[in-house]
This record gives sequence, C-alpha cells and structure tokens, in this order.
Amino acid sequence: MKVGVVGLGYVGLPLAVAFAEEGHDVVGLDADPRKVDALAEDTTYVEDVTSARLAALDGRLVATSRFPDLSSCDAVIICVPTPLTNSREPDLSYMIDAGTSLAAVLQKGQLIVLESTTYPGTTRERLRPILEESGLAAGRDFHLAFSPERIDPGRTDYTIRTTPKVVGGLTEDCTRRAVELYSQICDTVIEVSTPDAAELSKLLENIFRSVNIALVNELAMLCERLDIDVWEVVDAAASKPFGFMRFDPGPGMGGHCLPVDPFYLSFKAREHDFYTEFIELAGKINQNQPQWCVRRMERTLNDAGKATKGARVLLLGASYKADVGDTRESPALKIIGLLRELGADISYHDPHVPELHDLNLASVDLDESLPEADLVCIVTAHSAIDYQRVVDEAALVLDFRGVTRGISAHNVVRL
Ligand SMILES: NC(=O)c1ccc[n+]([C@@H]2O[C@H](COP(=O)([O-])OP(=O)(O)OC[C@H]3O[C@@H](n4cnc5c(N)ncnc54)[C@H](O)[C@@H]3O)[C@@H](O)[C@H]2O)c1
Repeated sequence: MKVGVVGLGYVGLPLAVAFAEEGHDVVGLDADPRKVDALAEDTTYVEDVTSARLAALDGRLVATSRFPDLSSCDAVIICVPTPLTNSREPDLSYMIDAGTSLAAVLQKGQLIVLESTTYPGTTRERLRPILEESGLAAGRDFHLAFSPERIDPGRTDYTIRTTPKVVGGLTEDCTRRAVELYSQICDTVIEVSTPDAAELSKLLENIFRSVNIALVNELAMLCERLDIDVWEVVDAAASKPFGFMRFDPGPGMGGHCLPVDPFYLSFKAREHDFYTEFIELAGKINQNQPQWCVRRMERTLNDAGKATKGARVLLLGASYKADVGDTRESPALKIIGLLRELGADISYHDPHVPELHDLNLASVDLDESLPEADLVCIVTAHSAIDYQRVVDEAALVLDFRGVTRGISAHNVVRL
C-alpha cells in the first residue's frame, strides 16, 4: 500500500511512521518546510517518535510539501489542526486549504480519511464538496471516511496498534476501505454507520474528560474552604473498583483538544437551536482554574508575609501535561500572564520547553533558581524532576499536581 499523510504534527507523524514501520510506502506532506527538512535528515520534532525510529525506516517515509506527490497514493489521511478562531468558533481553514490542494490532485479509486477532531457533519458537509471540486464523486469515484485520532502524546502503555480505531465511511464501501487501511496498523477497528457518528464519538471522549476534570476542580475549590485534602478524597473514591473513574484536579486544562473540542460541539448544537449548557459550564470552570490558582499563590505568599508584587515566583513546568513539550493552551501561560499583571517576578523551569517566545522567557537552571525563589509552584509534574529535592531546597512550595503527597514538610501547600 502507498499511504499519504497530510499534516505531520503530533498526530500525523506517529501515524505516518506506523504505516512505514509495517512496510508500506508513505508520503508525508506538511506545509511547514522546517518539518519536511527535518524529516529528510531523520530528525524528529515530536517526543513520541525518536530520530532512531525515523532512520530505521530506510526511506519508506518520504517527506514533501508538494501535493502532486500524493497522486500515486492508495489512501490519503488528513491530520491538520482544527483550532478555534479569535471568537471561539471552529477554524476549519487548515482543513479547507488541505482539501482544496488535495482536490487538485485527487485520483479515481483513492480513499481520503479525515482524522482532525471536528464537529459532526464536517466530512460530509464541508470536506466532501471541496474534494468533489475535482469532478470526482465521493462514494462513487473515490472513497471518503472519518476516523478520529486517539493519540495521547507521551503515553506508552497504549500504542497506535493497541488502541482501537473508530471509522465511519460515507458509504459501506468507504467504511470497508477505511477498515482495510487501519487494520494494517491497528489490532481492532470499530465500524460506525456514518462519518458523523465517528466525529461525534471523538467529541464525546474529550468532553467526557473535560466535564470530569471540571467536577474535580470544583471539588478542589470546595475542599479548600472545608479544609479537607482533595487528594486524599480522590484517592479514597478511586479505591472503588466499579462505577468511578479517577480524574485529578490541577491548574486547568491545556493542549489542542480538551479546551477546544467543546466549542466545536456547541457551535454545531447552536445551528440546531440547542444549547449544551452542561458542557459549557464545565469549560467555564476549567478556564477559570488558572485564576483560582493565582489567587492561591497570592494567599500562600501572603501567609508567608510576602506581597505578590516583586515576589520571585518560579514555575515548574510550562507545557500543558507531564513529559511533553506542547504548550498549546497551557494553563502555565495564563498563570504567567496573570502573575505579571500583579507585578511578580516570574521565571520557569521546564526540561521540555527551552523557551516561551511570546512571553520572552527561557527555562532557568533549577539548581540556581530553586533556593532564590520566594515561591516555587508545581504547575506541570514532569517525571524528570526530583520533587523531594524541590521541597528540600525551596523556601515555599505550592503544588497544583499532588506530586508532593507523601512528603511531609512545613513549607509545602497543596491544591
Ligand atoms: N495532539 C493530540 O494529542 C491530538 C489527539 C487527538 C486528535 N488530535 C487532532 O488531530 C489534529 C491535528 O493535531 P496535531 O496535534 O497533530 O496538530 P499539529 O499542529 O501538531 O500538526 C498539524 C500539522 O499540519 C500542518 N499543516 C497545517 N496546514 C496544512 C496544510 N494545508 N497542508 C499540509 N500541512 C498542513 C502543520 O504544519 C502541522 O505540522 C487536530 O484536529 C487535533 O484536534 C490531536
């Protein structure tokens, strides 16, 4: 099989590598020439794929920025970003651009699959007409399907092969082709009846997480008032072997998916005069979490007799989750902005994020900065950091991730 992958980011690159590792020829296309150049030299830029894995592909993954290179592929998978516009509405411009370029080179018999997370109806109502500009008809001349990506950057216990893959085609034949394609790299492929059902299943998965994180974040706020340790409560509830799924409180949600996806669904719902109030409330609670964290920081400094203005605050972790370098929508960025407004002197340490360009900050050396800070805040709990040492060397520690549980020290405050 020859497989094309459009968009070689966190989703597209591991997918392209998975097909190439199974012995298929892969054409990886990205609009960013730096990524194409890096791949030509077997240099990775995504944590989940090492440079050694790229080198071992023996040329089976060819990176390009030319759409005509896709015309010889049996299947083309689209993995471009689906962010929000400034007015918090779905921004399908990347998918529209990729679809338009693809339509110009689309061939009879090709299978096109969209993997980018989006609202139900996108594949049928938005992508299909763009591809049909080619003069070919979806379901007759070419096949079209949606299959949501379930990648979780940094995760090693489930892989592309062992994570079941959902597919929904425009027709039964489209679904059959998509099942054939993904069966090459996934042990289990789940068919649903339409692309719309597949699109909504992805939103349900992510919104389920968003709602449960909001629930436990709200509980953390209440626990502060009640003077109960929220981590102890979550640990205790999680001992129930059925009917409960553990979610941990934290400084807020980040990444490309959880803060964004609920807006995709509410946009579609509004078109049908339906308001997803419950889901939006969860989004609101999670979005406000960094503000609440900053208030906790102010209180912690205050209790130590220090003003926030002028205080030296060191944040540990700038990415949105542990052990990855992705800072998109990271709560750390919001926390930094809010603390700067209050006049705090901010620095951060993150082994995965050497620089925060937009904030004009670079990761500082931990050895030097730990003893100098008035307050050290654990925002993202990277596993490479020794938290016992942090507690030993810092004057005051505020832990938003619960990683200091089990360390008893007078200088630690936990969420
Ligand atoms: N990152 C995740 O954990 C994750 C998980 C599940 C689903 N998703 C979804 O997958 C999609 C991709 O996410 P990602 O994290 O891989 O994004 P990303 O930004 O890491 O990668 C997208 C890539 O697409 C390229 N691109 C943009 N427009 C293009 C075009 N017109 N032609 C060719 N290439 C183009 C960009 O240069 C970039 O390299 C999104 O819809 C996202 O919601 C992401």
